Amino acid sequence: MNNQLKVNPQQFYKDPYSYFSNARKISPMLYTELFQRTGWLVTGYREAEIMLKDPRFIKEATKVTPPEKIPESVMPAIAINRKMMLFRDAPDHTRLRNLVNKAFSPRMVENLRTSVNEIADYLLANMKGKFTHELIHDFSYLLPVFVITDLLGVPKEDRDLFRNWSEAFIKFIDFNTTMEDLELVSKDIIDASNYFRNLISLRRIEPKEDLISNLIIAEEFGDKLSEDEMIASCLLLLIAGHETTVNLITNGYYLLLKHPEQFELLKNDLTLIPSAIEEILRYESPVIFTSRWAREDFEFAGNAIKKGDYFMVSLGGANYDPNVTTNPETFDITRKNIKHLSFSSGPHFCLGAPLARLEGQIAIEKLIRHLVNPVLIEEPTRRKNVAFRGFESLKIQASIQ
Ligand code: HEM
Repeated sequence: MNNQLKVNPQQFYKDPYSYFSNARKISPMLYTELFQRTGWLVTGYREAEIMLKDPRFIKEATKVTPPEKIPESVMPAIAINRKMMLFRDAPDHTRLRNLVNKAFSPRMVENLRTSVNEIADYLLANMKGKFTHELIHDFSYLLPVFVITDLLGVPKEDRDLFRNWSEAFIKFIDFNTTMEDLELVSKDIIDASNYFRNLISLRRIEPKEDLISNLIIAEEFGDKLSEDEMIASCLLLLIAGHETTVNLITNGYYLLLKHPEQFELLKNDLTLIPSAIEEILRYESPVIFTSRWAREDFEFAGNAIKKGDYFMVSLGGANYDPNVTTNPETFDITRKNIKHLSFSSGPHFCLGAPLARLEGQIAIEKLIRHLVNPVLIEEPTRRKNVAFRGFESLKIQASIQ
């Protein structure tokens, strides 16, 4: 165990990158404690990338770790999580992912371009006439939520239900969560899954033009998917649509406000939008951690790994590895060949990456075009999540044109 590396939570929420950099200087793979977890902290880009692609690093902890003492009340929520592709290994992972992939093709995403533009215009129109805005509340939270709920076929009047439910899920899987927290948020996860159980049975009787109906059709065409797996897939898509892209948009706009020369550069040449989004993803990834377990004993990057060892794979740390990115602390939207692990790598590579990129590009372009003389009203506060990086709120002044 490495005892040189103490984490100060407040400092970490503010700036996790100094902590990652200190860790990497000791070793790109370091056995340490971090919040409620103990295991290998991986901050080297190459180590992280290889690990994410290597089937010896698995997702299903129950295969390699002794059963934990978990309160009865939390078990149903854990059972739902364990049905999600994000927490499965092959062959179950492959089966679940193929099925969702069929319903969620890049062509389907490209077809969403018009509706993402329309939603962004609608939200900006609602901001007109006001000079002070809370960007998350008014824009960056609503855009991905409208897109994913429409895509799945969640009725508009039910959209608000998911705010608490998806926050509960994030709490459930974060690194600073205690057993008491788990007990508190379990009910929300059960409520959310009951909601989908009901919606799925409605679509079985009367299919519509939506992702849930597509999943039901794909299932009927041969892929075996249990009712609970179907619910878990819907829940995962919905939460991923809630908790990540909002932070891509907000972190991105904040970064541009803090780097006026980059803002001007982008404003004067909007063809830079795709590379600006990649640099935003690298510099302030909405997801800075994922995790894996060792399937067996083996040697990796000069370390003796034991079956059941836990890995805290720091995607945010890897993105700042100076062996891969020159001057990683510089935010530069004109970088060539930007390398980041913000969507992970290997079999669990983010299934929603094309959608997230599309939404991020449209949102940032619209904000740049339509917000006139934007100014930060106050320095925003970071959310107290370890793995998910976003703000509590982002208050700005700007007129809307
Ligand atoms: C900027 C936005 C996003 C980021 C940074 C992000 C990041 C990630 C990461 C890091 C993983 C893999 C974690 C691992 O390897 O353990 C992942 C998986 C996943 N993401 Fe995203 N995501 C984003 C947006 C979305 C959206 C919009 C959707 C869908 C609507 C989505 C759906 C998924 C799904 C279904 C998986 C599981 C894939 C699997 O296990 O095979 N994501 N995402």
